[in-house]
Amino acid sequence: MKVLGLETSCDETGLAIFDSDSLAQGGNGLVGQVLYSQIDLHATYGGVVPELASRDHIRKLVPLLNELLQQCEMSRHELDAIAFTKGPGLIGALMTGALFGRSLAYGLNIPAIGIHHMEGHLLSPLLGANPPKFPFVSLLVSGGHTLLVAAQGIGDYEILGESIDDAAGECFDKAAKMLGLPYPGGPNIAKLAEGGDKTAYDLPRPMLHKGLDFSFSGMKTAVHNLIKDTKGADSDASIRANLAASFQHAMVDTLVKKCIKALKQTQMSQLVIAGGVSANVHLRQTLETELASIGATVHYAPLALCTDNGAMIAYAGWQRLQAGQSDDLAVSCVPRWHIDELPSLG
Ligand code: KG4
Ligand code: ZN
Repeated sequence: MKVLGLETSCDETGLAIFDSDSLAQGGNGLVGQVLYSQIDLHATYGGVVPELASRDHIRKLVPLLNELLQQCEMSRHELDAIAFTKGPGLIGALMTGALFGRSLAYGLNIPAIGIHHMEGHLLSPLLGANPPKFPFVSLLVSGGHTLLVAAQGIGDYEILGESIDDAAGECFDKAAKMLGLPYPGGPNIAKLAEGGDKTAYDLPRPMLHKGLDFSFSGMKTAVHNLIKDTKGADSDASIRANLAASFQHAMVDTLVKKCIKALKQTQMSQLVIAGGVSANVHLRQTLETELASIGATVHYAPLALCTDNGAMIAYAGWQRLQAGQSDDLAVSCVPRWHIDELPSLG
């Protein structure tokens, strides 16, 4: 089955084709993908402008589909189904991909299915080199969400903890802005932190002893105050590197400690990390070391599939389509949608 995946929930237009025949031949099933990032469009505003995002998705969908089909040497008539991101996300941006996908599927007389963006992220490590097997704990860390989920199977998700305020990625983005770094902040903080001393400044590890929920708004205030009180925070390269490294370390430390707590609570031994922040190398390396010491393993998607992309939507779509699920002709996007509301496949 050849499934076209469309991702337009925020500021990336991602399209990919997943082919289960290619999976059977030993690959990961991905036969092609294209991604257009709107980062430059939003950079001057310091964050995503929803209306500009929707308009840009509309402009890019058709040319990107043509480019993808050319890359895969396929005609659109060879597609068997279309999966699109149905939520959560920016409503206008979601509508562009959903309407495009649903109409194209209608025109081609093939099924279409709306996919939960965070389920796409959650399943993306199954496309990686070292895929986990159910059950596992998943840390979903993106620009809009921070969730710890116990995953027993596809659609069988229990939320163990979540952020009560800002998401981890959002906190990276805000700290980066305070340091005068461009959007998106995460990769820029990570780059600046490379030469820095992570123990130079002490930042809080919020809610460490309170269950599995997270809170990052206090961290934001702490970073703000630290930058304000530190001479050279705007000009001295080594002070700036130390600030970035200390902030990244505090974030990673908090996430890692909660993951270990979740593994112990569920008595599971595999951790999956997914979403944009899972691209963070310090987070990956710290988890590798810390989990090895408790006999657990960490699994993540290839770097290119950590941030938003069409491949994760095509893959999640295929999983649900092959189980007999599909959407009817009505297109309804869900900007706020909890992952534990999804139907299970079992
Ligand atoms: O999953 P994603 O691409 O989009 C959403 O669904 O939100 O995540 C984007 C978030 C941004 O906040 C970005 O700063 C963060 O992921 N991010 C990172 C890194 N790469 C992306 N955060 C920390 N370290 C990184 N290397
Ligand atoms: Zn995402």
